[in-house]
Amino acid sequence: MKRLLLIVGTRPNFVKIDPILRALDSQDSWCSTTLVHTGQHYDEAMSESLFVDLGLRKPEINLGISGGSHAQQTARVMVAIEELLQQSSYDLVIVVGDVNSTLAATLAAVKLQIPVAHIEAGLRSGDRTMPEEINRLCVDAISTMLFTTSRDANDNLYREGVPPDKVHFVGNVMIDTMLRILRELDRNSVLEKYALTAKNYAILTAHRPSNVDSADGLNNMLKIIQGTGQRLEIVFPLHPRTLQRLKELDLLNRLQAVKRLKLLPPLGYRDFLALQADAAVVLTDSGGIQEETTVLGIPCLTLRENTERPITVSEGTNLILGTDYERVMQALDAVLDNFHWNGQTPEYWDGHAAARIAEILRKKLGPAWSHHQDVATP
Ligand code: UD1
Repeated sequence: MKRLLLIVGTRPNFVKIDPILRALDSQDSWCSTTLVHTGQHYDEAMSESLFVDLGLRKPEINLGISGGSHAQQTARVMVAIEELLQQSSYDLVIVVGDVNSTLAATLAAVKLQIPVAHIEAGLRSGDRTMPEEINRLCVDAISTMLFTTSRDANDNLYREGVPPDKVHFVGNVMIDTMLRILRELDRNSVLEKYALTAKNYAILTAHRPSNVDSADGLNNMLKIIQGTGQRLEIVFPLHPRTLQRLKELDLLNRLQAVKRLKLLPPLGYRDFLALQADAAVVLTDSGGIQEETTVLGIPCLTLRENTERPITVSEGTNLILGTDYERVMQALDAVLDNFHWNGQTPEYWDGHAAARIAEILRKKLGPAWSHHQDVATP
């Protein structure tokens, strides 16, 4: 029996690992899975509530490592994962996304010569001022198996010299989760809970350092929020990082004064998905939301200068706008006035990405007999 160690640390990681665990656990028993939470996200609203909403099992191990600078956070997770890997033998470490926990676990495992599978490999924004871009480059350079969400990600990896046999285009696990939960949602009751009417409101999220860490960045956001509020109601769930900065820079009062703004704590996965699905428009600097809106057919105005997910622009509903006020307002007016979705979704964003990953892992790591046994079973 092969032993797989799966690592999560932050909110989007939980959404990505859930379908992979489900797919692995539903296969014939060639592997056992151990889930580790590094603790990078620790607030109830950012962590525990996601586990409940997804029905994700409690991690077997919680390292309780949170806060600190990038180096401190990464180093502390590395030390803890190294200890774990030395205490007990594992055949594969699975990491997802591009956060500091992803990088730390990868470095620790690879240096102990334990193979690493990276899910959501090959995404590149080309912007090395983003911490996530550095994490992506490093993780992909040293991982053993690379699973991609789109073919352009494969091309990025080939361009960087990754041998093609390491790369597997499987689709998008975040969309696996979204499609599963969407089927179970009672969207009307969520609209009622927040006193909203379908297609009558915007959702806004902001947590990127470039948008929320400086006074300039936050003032820019504030202006965009005020402009949006003149056009329609806004729902703004506040990421802890953003709330912290708003308080530090004494801008929370000005934000609270914006008309037609519902300022909320971070929402659960189900509520946020339901609200996304019925929004008129979403304004965001998140990566995952660019993908989710593409499959939901909701216009997405991305408040960043670039994206590592270009397929959401070429085949989806995403517009990369940056944070220039006039530019964002023009785009907002245009989509509110006239938006048509062609119903197209990217290849393999179909709810079966995790099953493809599990199948590839079984073929690569599983015992040869499992295949013969399948064939022999009547
Ligand atoms: C991290 C990821 C980012 C991802 C985001 C999703 C990195 C480099 N960044 O950013 O790619 O899009 O998660 O949310 O890994 N905090 C709390 N409570 C929490 C979590 C964080 O108060 O539950 C505070 C931290 O103490 C810290 C700040 O928020 O002061 C930022 O948290 P951190 O985990 O460093 O990065 P994020 O901004 O959440």
